[in-house]
This record gives sequence, C-alpha cells and structure tokens, in this order.
Amino acid sequence: MRAKRLEGFGTTIFSEMSALAARTGSVNLGQGMPDSSGPPSVIAAAVDAMERGANQYPPGNGIPALRQAIARHQQRHYGIVLDPETEVVVTTGCTEAIAGALLGLVDPGDEVVVLEPYFDSYVAMLQIVGAVRRPVTLRAPDFRLDLDELRAAVSPHTRFMLVNTPHNPTGTVLTDAELATIAELAVENDVTVISDEVYEHLTYDGWTHTPLSTLPGMAERTLTLSSAGKSYSFTGWKVGWATGPADLVGAVLGAKQWLTYSTGAPLQPAVAHALDHEPDFPRRLARDLQGRRDLLCGALEKAGLPLRLSAGTYFVMTDISGLGWADGLAFCRALPERAGIVAIPTQGFYDTPGVGRQLVRWSFCKDQTTIEEAVRRLEGADLTC
Ligand SMILES: Cc1ncc(COP(=O)(O)O)c(C=O)c1O
Repeated sequence: MRAKRLEGFGTTIFSEMSALAARTGSVNLGQGMPDSSGPPSVIAAAVDAMERGANQYPPGNGIPALRQAIARHQQRHYGIVLDPETEVVVTTGCTEAIAGALLGLVDPGDEVVVLEPYFDSYVAMLQIVGAVRRPVTLRAPDFRLDLDELRAAVSPHTRFMLVNTPHNPTGTVLTDAELATIAELAVENDVTVISDEVYEHLTYDGWTHTPLSTLPGMAERTLTLSSAGKSYSFTGWKVGWATGPADLVGAVLGAKQWLTYSTGAPLQPAVAHALDHEPDFPRRLARDLQGRRDLLCGALEKAGLPLRLSAGTYFVMTDISGLGWADGLAFCRALPERAGIVAIPTQGFYDTPGVGRQLVRWSFCKDQTTIEEAVRRLEGADLTC
C-alpha cells in the first residue's frame, strides 16, 4: 500500500546495505555516519538542558539562542549577515530543511536543475512535490561540473537550482568558476537556488567552501541549508537549519510546521553551545578525516579501484570496471563475501541511464581502527569479477 507519489521508492539503499553489513559482520563503509560522537562538552550541554527542563515543544522556528548562534556562525565564517528572527529556521536535520524547502517553494510541474549523482532525499522529495528534474551530471573520472551542460540545462523555464557543495557522493567541491557560472545563470534566468552546504567544514588538501549566497546577486535568491550532524559528528541528533531571505526561510517554516512542528528541545541549546564554544572542532575533524581518506584511498587503489581523491565530504567514489564488473549493485552485494566490507552502489543516484553503474561509494568517516581493519581486509581480498 503506497501512494503514487512514492512510486519507485523501496527501502533506501543505505538501509539495505547497513542490514547486509550487520548480517555478514562486515566493516560498514556504506552509510555516512561516524563511529565516534562529537565534543563531550556538547553532550554535557544536552544533558544539562534536559535536566533543566528543556523537554517540551520549543518554538517552531527554533530557540532564539540557536538561531542567534547560527547567524553568528554564518557571519564569522563567511561574512554573511542574517536576522536571526526572520532569516534563520532550525530544522530536524538538513533532511527536513530539504523537505521543507521543496514542499514550501516548489509547485507541481516546476523545473528544477539538480546536480547528479543526487543525495537520495532530493529525488524522493522532488517526486513528492511533482517537480520536473533536469539533471546535470558530475561525470567520472574527475566529477567536475560541465559548464556547457549546465548552460544547456538552465532556461527561462527553470524555477530552481538545487546545488550541493561539497558534493555527496562524488566529494567534489565546486570551484570559484563553477560557482560563478551557477550564479550568473541564476541571475540571468531569475532562478531561486537551494544550496545544500551540509559538508561546508569538511574539506581537504587546502580546498575551501564558498557559500553560493556570497556571490554577486545571490544573497537575495539563495536558500542555504546545513546541519550540525556532519560538522560536529552528531548525525543522529538531526539538528539542521535553513538560512537566507525571509521569504524563502518563511516558506521552509511554512512547510516545517506541518512536518515536525519543532526540533529536539534539549539538542538545540547543545548545538548552540557547539557553534559558539567548539568552533575549532570541525577543522580538527576535517584534518583527521583527510588522514583516513588517504589511508582508505591508498588501499582501494592497490586493490585495483581507480579513484579521484575527494576534496570534501565523508566519501570517495571508485570505478569498478577495471576489475571486470559492469554493475555496482552486483559488486556491492558480493563485497561482504569477497572482502568483509560494505559499500554503496551509486546507480540509483542518477537519472541519466548508465553513467553511475560502474561507480561505488565508500565512507571514510569512521574511526582509525575501522579504516585500518578495512584496509587489512582489502589487502587480502580478490575483487576481480
Ligand atoms: C548532501 C546531504 N544533504 C543532507 C544530508 C542530511 O543531513 P541530516 O543528517 O542533517 O539530515 C546529508 C546526509 O547524508 C547529505 O549527504
């Protein structure tokens, strides 16, 4: 029994692969969640908030202390000035910010240009709202944005662009030139941009993240989404936010009030504490992640899986075709037996037929010991088809 709007969506590939990892005792490099929690002081702040009675519905748009902390964060990192009363809304993870943005802004039939491979909730929510997806593909092996393809996709019919940088699953961080082209096209065609910047602090090798809203003409047309989950290793807390012009933020809130109404009461003061008092944690995390990326990527390459080192995110993509595999799903289903590891096939993250079939995503956001175990297993495995 499913409504038509959910047609084609079964269990997410992440649930399937996590269950496979549990069943086979495999090292789970599938779902993007760290083994370890974020800063102890942030956990203490949540416990303290609970003990002090922050256990009832908070305001629908978020507690003032967190909205103010988010505004300060945007100013400190990017020089973006926001009114915490009207230009910030707290959401239940970035996932709810995405859902709220699409439900609150997009009408059936609206054209949305979106970078593929997609984060899977984009596809589901765009289908639920009845949008027309116009994919622009980040193609292997370098996963760069093809500016001509982008120009061809954006037209006067385009109402929205849904952009993600740093990009899951490719690990691409958009360059200044790529961002500038997105901005020019958005201004030229009067397009509203929804910019998912959830991995904003997780960049490597000197790559840095630039919010789209800081480009000329973009502040008034960009809704920026993020979350504490990735930056602070609290993915299970599901505290996110949307920031930008009051009318766009208001649309998110308009939808959010019918989804969750409000977001985890004791977690909000704790995330405010994180943003204000643990500002260096994300940078330290990124440094550690870069080391783990290098360790895992070295082993993947040795195992015959070519890759492009990720510039950001938790993930790296490899090409399995050199080992004789044509299909990522078959490879990932065989991987627990071959190597005692679980990874994620990516073909489901594309509309364009065929482009992702030979690509597999691996998470390196795990503890050093988990990555070392995965490396050991890869060293002893025969991965040829
Ligand atoms: C690109 C992207 N956006 C949004 C999310 C969801 O974030 P949250 O866990 O805060 O809901 C994820 C999580 O994997 C993601 O990769």
